[in-house]
Amino acid sequence: MEDPALETLFLPIVSGASPWPSGAPVLFLRARAGAPLREIQSSDLVCEQSFKPDADALTAAGLTSAAVADGETYPLVLVLPPRQREEARALLARAVRRAGTSGIVMASALNTEGARRLESDLGALASPVHSISKHKCRVFWTQPGRTAGESELCRSWEALDAPRPILDGEFLSRPGLFAWDHIDAGSALLAESLPDDLRGRGADLGAGFGFLAAAVLARCPKVKALDLYEAEARALVLAKLNLGKTEAKAALDFLWHDVTQGLSRSYDFIVSNPPFHEGRADKTALGRQFIQAAAGALVKGGRLLLVANRHLPYEATLAACFRIVRGVADRGGYKIIEAVK
Ligand SMILES: C[S@@+](CC[C@H](N)C(=O)[O-])C[C@H]1O[C@@H](n2cnc3c(N)ncnc32)[C@H](O)[C@@H]1O
Repeated sequence: MEDPALETLFLPIVSGASPWPSGAPVLFLRARAGAPLREIQSSDLVCEQSFKPDADALTAAGLTSAAVADGETYPLVLVLPPRQREEARALLARAVRRAGTSGIVMASALNTEGARRLESDLGALASPVHSISKHKCRVFWTQPGRTAGESELCRSWEALDAPRPILDGEFLSRPGLFAWDHIDAGSALLAESLPDDLRGRGADLGAGFGFLAAAVLARCPKVKALDLYEAEARALVLAKLNLGKTEAKAALDFLWHDVTQGLSRSYDFIVSNPPFHEGRADKTALGRQFIQAAAGALVKGGRLLLVANRHLPYEATLAACFRIVRGVADRGGYKIIEAVK
């Protein structure tokens, strides 16, 4: 099954336990496209999705995604909560508020991604909660009623994923982003290993809240332009604020973009701490696509500087795409690789 959490989310609707409301659109937070949405008219569904590959899949399915304005309420709010606890609680609290006085909140998650815990979180906001378990997932739903969205708990959970300063105010970050409240050891090793002669136009692939890009600008005065590519809009918006503070003169661009689709410009250098598919059999597919996208966009002689967990085997892809590949550093379970096109 392609997306068991999505299939499970629609079980109460398919079984008639909680029918699809008529007359007003349904709100879908962290929406993903897939088979259960095929019969639904785009006018019946308001989708919100900040992760570009999922937003692109919704568009391809004829559905649009947009940030949902505060204040609107919906008869049904569907949610696919993220893994990170504070971010998930904030999303459930938003869903409860968006359900207004009579709407239903319905959420689903894989058992291995904390479905039981999420169900009890929804129960803390509103009860009773009904649930069905299937496909190694759990769908759970409740009708919060008039006061739940105004409760102190709901308001305080809604603020749980708000942007905040971290590392003595050096960066703004928020729960749910990669290494959101610290600097990842691999990113730190890459920052420390950056050559200071990077020049011209560069890119950071999977830029997060901007730590690595900031390190490039601080270390390499000959960089003229730097493009930050990031699929998660919640991160990109903070990268913009974080990089806005730097004194470097380089021209900056911030691209909400799925790197696996290739890059839109050519570059003299690229840096990246690529994501890997957590919990998937082929963990390295995403990283390999990042390497291929970098190779496709670098000019002849252009340089890729990459950090990876030491056990992730990127060498064959690097060797196929680049003329020279060499290890620059190896410490604490991470390796830094420089590849020249
Ligand atoms: C390992 S983190 C690196 C973050 C940051 N550069 C750092 O070093 O702290 C990888 C980043 O890639 C982003 N990402 C995941 N899939 C992506 C995709 N298909 N296209 C672009 N960015 C993606 C993630 O949201 C995440 O911010």
